[in-house]
Amino acid sequence: MLRRGVSDLSEDASSRPLSFAINRFLAPRLLEAWIKIRFDNQVADRCLTTIARRDRLGSRDRRRLAEAIFKALRRRGSVDALMGTKAGKQEHSPQWLATALEQDWPDGPKALLFQENESPEQAGNLPPLVIRQLESSSLDLLELGRALRHRAPVTLRCKPNHRSRLALELRDHGVQTHFTPYSPNGLICEDGAQLHQLESGLRATFEVQDEGSQLLAMLVGASADERVLDACAGAGGKTLAMVDSRAQITASDIDDERLARLSNRLGTKDTNVTIQNLSSAHASVHEQTFDRILIDAPCSGTGTARRAPDLLWRLTAEHLTKYTTIQQTLLRRYADWVRPGGYLIYGTCSLLPQENEDQITEFLAQRQDFKRVAIAQTMGEHLAQQLGCTDYLQLLPHRHKTDGFFGCLMQRL
Ligand SMILES: C[S@@+](CC[C@H](N)C(=O)[O-])C[C@H]1O[C@@H](n2cnc3c(N)ncnc32)[C@H](O)[C@@H]1O
Repeated sequence: MLRRGVSDLSEDASSRPLSFAINRFLAPRLLEAWIKIRFDNQVADRCLTTIARRDRLGSRDRRRLAEAIFKALRRRGSVDALMGTKAGKQEHSPQWLATALEQDWPDGPKALLFQENESPEQAGNLPPLVIRQLESSSLDLLELGRALRHRAPVTLRCKPNHRSRLALELRDHGVQTHFTPYSPNGLICEDGAQLHQLESGLRATFEVQDEGSQLLAMLVGASADERVLDACAGAGGKTLAMVDSRAQITASDIDDERLARLSNRLGTKDTNVTIQNLSSAHASVHEQTFDRILIDAPCSGTGTARRAPDLLWRLTAEHLTKYTTIQQTLLRRYADWVRPGGYLIYGTCSLLPQENEDQITEFLAQRQDFKRVAIAQTMGEHLAQQLGCTDYLQLLPHRHKTDGFFGCLMQRL
């Protein structure tokens, strides 16, 4: 039987070199954080903040600790295989996890051999609940699990037709980038980009945004003077990506704090965006008002597991039920606000069919006044073909190297 050794579990050549260095001071804190996050189910960010405050860590140590713990979390299956899965069974020295991460599993093939038919869970990073949910899909779970072991790149979005110029300007400031393969306005930063050190003028010419998120905004197909509702705008990632369409955009969300953040992010020239919390507005007031409505729905976030790996493991069946219920409610509520001939665009950053295709099937079964439209209608034949997507926008970390995103374009008849 073919066996895979430790080298298959290390990050590939294109991923960034590790920048953390865990010294004797940080090593016990790394192990402490691991145990609290892994076994006590603490939220990674919060746990790290608590430790950092308690022990008065400087910014560099905070960053090292965070990088190390996120690397361990992205390989949780592998760490479990090496360390055991019981909190009490920690037989390792405080330095052990740090060394394992720094040197990419120095215990070598003896400690980390998997059968060829290993499960995706053993291979790394997919918890049983997620595997169960994905079993009905056609996704290659091993490939997906492997892709989720890698850090997500830092990706930027710039104004249309400014990409080459921005790339040159960034290069002059020591930030190397390359073009995103699909989004026409994206730049992927090479390792070690110090974006926070850029002068504010240059910093204002781009937004940090995953390429998948840029593509979901493109799926909306907003154009000048159209009335567009971004119904779950949050702090405005997609709203800002649609601003240059010159559509009349209303950004709404149930969370006023997020909308306030969007307000701070808007430029003085972005007068085509109105921020208004319509989440509890009487449904009849806005009936058939909008040309396009984007529902960037609250979801499990499983597509962003490279950035928030603990989230994947904290997901429960109850959470999933809660999300799918809200998603269906949002679809039904905002469908009535689309004018006949207008479009409803549903999106998530989830990998799970229950939050994606299944929601569309359920919605369309009840709303015969809507039909699904090929994504090429707004994204163009060439891009749709390049993405390998027809009926749905389905972006996958192992295929497109983006976060996982789902999008569907529906037209009201
Ligand atoms: C995936 S996030 C949106 C991200 C945002 N569109 C962006 O690009 O940055 C989902 C958003 O849905 C909002 N939300 C949750 N329930 C909602 C509801 N019933 N009505 C409107 N928004 C809701 C959440 O507050 C959250 O901001």
